[in-house]
Amino acid sequence: MINKKKLWRTANDHNIEDRVKKIKEEPVPEHIAIIMDGNGRWAKKRALPRIAGHHEGMKTVKKITKLVNKLGVKVLTLYAFSTENWKRPKHEVEFLMKLPEEFLGMFLPELIEENVRVQMMGERSQIPKHTLNAVEKAMEQTSGNDGLILNFALNYGSRAEILTAVKNIISDVKNGIILEENLDEELFSRYLMTEHLQDPDLLIRTSGEIRLSNFMLWQLAYTEFWFTDTNWPDFKEDHLLEAVEAFQRRSRRFGGLS
Ligand code: FPP
Repeated sequence: MINKKKLWRTANDHNIEDRVKKIKEEPVPEHIAIIMDGNGRWAKKRALPRIAGHHEGMKTVKKITKLVNKLGVKVLTLYAFSTENWKRPKHEVEFLMKLPEEFLGMFLPELIEENVRVQMMGERSQIPKHTLNAVEKAMEQTSGNDGLILNFALNYGSRAEILTAVKNIISDVKNGIILEENLDEELFSRYLMTEHLQDPDLLIRTSGEIRLSNFMLWQLAYTEFWFTDTNWPDFKEDHLLEAVEAFQRRSRRFGGLS
């Protein structure tokens, strides 16, 4: 008997491959940032606990990282935990803080093999030791890789990031490390957690919410936004390609004329 599911999957894989090939003929976004939203609603729809949605969301992270790497994107920044997420129930926070370990425990060898470099941005002091250890181990073991940068935003909040930058700049001006008259956008950017990264070209937010939720407020000034109603655990390769194809149809003027 013909295995219809397998046949369909193979046809779909071909379709994805063809689209990837076509996309790569045009410039691809060099930095994609994603607000991975809708895990809780995904779970609720299935009468599952919220953490089941986060766990399923982790599998999407793997799928999308692989695809983005295939596309030749340079940086993928994922909003994994915000400075506001501490307000959630304790068991949910604890579960979320275990996910990087589980993800890297399963996937790190593959990331190393695929030349991916793991990084993180966020306030480290509140992150549990076990979470930080897992991420730092991955950062260390992938530090020699020069392919896709997989940048986890973990305990990240953009307003806090900007405020810290301002305080550090004031202190550096006072101490004569930098001159006030030299402070421009480029120098300011170097005080942010993304100092070594270019600004995102494309921001994706899933689950139908149309807001930034304290994510990369400075860095997203000229980024193209793409929103979808799809919840993050349901976000498939097809959706990512749709977002990139939409990006390629846009005309970016950066305030100038095309
Ligand atoms: C928002 O959905 C999602 C989060 C706060 C957590 C995102 C984390 C993951 C997708 C897993 C991360 C995996 C790794 C490897 C770090 P929500 O809970 O706010 O959903 P809701 O709005 O439907 O309630």
